[in-house]
Amino acid sequence: MTGGELEPPHRLRPIRALPGGEAVEIIDQRRLPHELRLARLDGVEAVVTAIRDMWVRGAPLIGATAAFGVALQARADAGDAAMAAATDRLQASRPTAVNLAWALQRMARVWAALAPADRAAATWAEAEAIAREDLAVNAAIGRNGLPILQALAARRAAVGGGALQVLTHCNAGWLATVGWGTATAPIYQAHAAGVPLHVWVDETRPRNQGASLTAWELGQAGVPHTVVADNAGGHLMQHRQVDLVIVGCDRVTARGDVCNKIGTYLKALAARDNGVPFYVAMPTSTLDLSLADGLAEIPIEERSAREVTHVSGRDASGSVLEVQLTPDGSAAANPAFDVTPARLVTGLITERGLVPAQEAALRRLMEPMPR
Ligand code: MRU
Repeated sequence: MTGGELEPPHRLRPIRALPGGEAVEIIDQRRLPHELRLARLDGVEAVVTAIRDMWVRGAPLIGATAAFGVALQARADAGDAAMAAATDRLQASRPTAVNLAWALQRMARVWAALAPADRAAATWAEAEAIAREDLAVNAAIGRNGLPILQALAARRAAVGGGALQVLTHCNAGWLATVGWGTATAPIYQAHAAGVPLHVWVDETRPRNQGASLTAWELGQAGVPHTVVADNAGGHLMQHRQVDLVIVGCDRVTARGDVCNKIGTYLKALAARDNGVPFYVAMPTSTLDLSLADGLAEIPIEERSAREVTHVSGRDASGSVLEVQLTPDGSAAANPAFDVTPARLVTGLITERGLVPAQEAALRRLMEPMPR
């Protein structure tokens, strides 16, 4: 598979292997949109911290970063016990996105088959392959999603409705992957193809990945967009101001239940009530065929209450500071993901094509490709 002729929307990558295999460089996403700061991760502990504390985030990027964590461990101590312990530490860093387990299993298949002396070079090469493939997968998701956006844009244009109106939640953009993004890949490709479009960006409380990251990305790429409070989506749909919703995913079960950032389910409900198509961009590395019932079986990360009680932003002097929103003493809860049942999903846009959120289709999708 190739990345296609189009270049990804930004020259920077959220993760980059540094020459010599000693470290990786990441974008520290906690600082965006106010500061673009790079950080160097030179060992597995640094990688665990970066994933757990969300310097990097987004399912595919978590997987790729963890893969480099394994490779950095192999450079430090490639013995069986050290490799297994590092894998366990990485696996525990965030529970919901299955790309983490997917990448660690892929890495384990490589190192477990080799003598310790051969593990450093082989795991580094495998981590680089995971990163390279992610870029190509997302480019393919973009190509496969493009006709959907073109058709809906033509439908809107036919009634003189102006630009295609897309709504997205959280950040499933290039910052959440190695490049392109998943949900944003069709948007970037449609924009490049001259499809007039506008994106409604859910702010995505409590961490505001939409307001801080998706809005920043789209702005960098010159894609027209408007940030809205999470609660605005239903209203916009009722007033025919949304032609489609497109989101990413952290884990999709065999029967097509979609786990994604908290609040996604409410968008899917509103979309169904208003006849708005609800698409999920899904690299096949996010499909977990070992699970069926997403609600019952997907582990939902519970994050710190502080993400709810406090918010950070830039003040008039340009300093970034954190302030408290809630009264002293009020409890807060912070489930970070929710599950949208398959019945609310119009289709899954994958690197292998558009598939319905149905078990038979998803199992068929994962059958080996004919040579
Ligand atoms: O908590 P986050 O920021 O890692 O959550 C990210 C999301 O929910 C994304 O939509 C998902 O990981 C897909 S990223 C291509």
